[in-house]
Amino acid sequence: MYKIAVIPGDGIGKEVMEAALHVLEAINVEFDYTFADAGDEYEEISGIALPQETIDVVKNSEACLFGAAGESAADVIVKLRQELELYVNLRPVKSYPGTKSIYNDLDFVIVRENTEGMYIGIEEETEEGATALRVITKKASERICKFAFEYAEKTGRSKVTAVHKANVLKKTDGLFRDTFYKVAEEFSDIETDDRYVDATAMFFITNPHMFDVIVTTNLFGDILSDEGAGLVGGLGLIPSANIGEKTGIFEPVHGSAPRHAGKNTANPSAMILSAVLMLDYLEEHDAARTIENALIEVLSENKVVTQDLGGKASTMEMAAEIRNKIENK
Ligand code: NAI
Ligand code: MG
Repeated sequence: MYKIAVIPGDGIGKEVMEAALHVLEAINVEFDYTFADAGDEYEEISGIALPQETIDVVKNSEACLFGAAGESAADVIVKLRQELELYVNLRPVKSYPGTKSIYNDLDFVIVRENTEGMYIGIEEETEEGATALRVITKKASERICKFAFEYAEKTGRSKVTAVHKANVLKKTDGLFRDTFYKVAEEFSDIETDDRYVDATAMFFITNPHMFDVIVTTNLFGDILSDEGAGLVGGLGLIPSANIGEKTGIFEPVHGSAPRHAGKNTANPSAMILSAVLMLDYLEEHDAARTIENALIEVLSENKVVTQDLGGKASTMEMAAEIRNKIENK
């Protein structure tokens, strides 16, 4: 029995969460859910977007499923990542059938440093304009590179590529690249290389198959992971994981999509795949594959799918179809 925090949040967050929980009921893993409040709607009634109580619920859970927040996203999900030191942002770039993926056979992951770099939040106005500080520490570089290699080992991937701009950012990215190669010495069975971020952006379009696991700093990872999402069919499909030493938060990359909210038309795939990432994190790999394969079946058939995938099904109808596939195996 796993203790799981559930934060549905705002807009379609609530709808895709209901859909994901419906699918999770079909597998042979037991969860003890604690529902917690956060987001715009909660802020309207309470005056605060992320109550301490919710932070505590997540802290005391083995993992957290997060739907989406609205305008308060920075105060909710960004704050949760910082409070809980979730230093890894893991984003798979994987093609699924029946989607508008540019390539039909992509399968690589981006491991993005989630706590420092360009997003450390130290900006200053100066006489001439403004400056931002880019902080790269040995500690954070080491732990993110180590995570990338361990993740590669665990998931049977054979290569880790460090992405940086050490030719220009000699000190900061020099340190990141050197740390990467030092950590690599402990993982001699895994192939390593490194690339400049600008060239990487091009290779995503021209030759994305060269990548297996990418490890990179915060800003580069943010940009490249959206480029990756663009390669494989867009927001209704893309899950993510925020992982620290003690817990993880699993969430779709999309937000509360106010124009879709309340209509039961949102694609539940991104949230369901986030639950799949959570199951892998909990080492429940069989259950993870069961759900992922059922989703693949439903996507391939392209019948009971939501509007964005060319179908007419509602969020819950698509979830129910995925659950049917699991239960009728
Ligand atoms: P969004 O991701 O909510 O929606 C952008 C567009 O993508 C939608 O209009 C829709 O066409 C499509 N889309 C997204 N998810 C979909 C799904 N599951 N099925 C089908 N289509 C889908 O981004 P937007 O409109 O920029 O932001 C809306 C609100 O969400 C804002 O208040 C923003 O602050 C918040 N937000 C929250 C995030 C979080 O909680 N992690 C992340 C991004 C935005
Ligand atoms: Mg981003």
